[in-house]
Amino acid sequence: MGKIAIYPGSFDPVTNGHLDIITRGLTIFDRIIVTILENPSKTLLFSLEERIDLLSQSLEGIENVEIASYHGLLVDYAKQRGATAILRGMRAVSDFEYEFQMALMNRKLEREIQTVFLMTGLRWIFTSSSIIKEAAKFGGDIESMVPHVVKERLEQKFNVRINGNGAVDDPR
Ligand code: PNS
Repeated sequence: MGKIAIYPGSFDPVTNGHLDIITRGLTIFDRIIVTILENPSKTLLFSLEERIDLLSQSLEGIENVEIASYHGLLVDYAKQRGATAILRGMRAVSDFEYEFQMALMNRKLEREIQTVFLMTGLRWIFTSSSIIKEAAKFGGDIESMVPHVVKERLEQKFNVRINGNGAVDDPR
């Protein structure tokens, strides 16, 4: 079966930063299960179905990746799927405390599963779903930070036109 990792998150919506972590994660793990879970502290823009759809279009053509969703504890799902690791991206120091807390809690809940962190690529250091939504709401140019399909869906959601300079940073 090989080494399986769960890459959990809200993915509201998926960004190029997420895709960067997934593609680099695939050089370590044989299979990555990108799993949408509930983060009670977040207000969502996209429905679960929309987030799954955006992820599957963005990951088209990438092998050994699966998209899933789970209602409950991340470690329970990881165990259920035979995963031995949780993959998370780390951006700046500001991410550290939250990630550290979550990793320790997950380890307390399930000692057999290790959390593995990858540092975000430098060009995605300021990329987050929340900041992208904030900018996109007012037509800010977020074109180079998200897959094309996400840009289009944000335009529809906010009823705005995002006029990028056409520069698309392909994270793959
Ligand atoms: O992309 P996010 O919002 O930073 O991801 C956070 C997420 C969804 C991975 C986290 O909230 C989570 O794991 N939720 C499921 C419940 C759980 O197991 N929480 C961690 C232990 S308290």
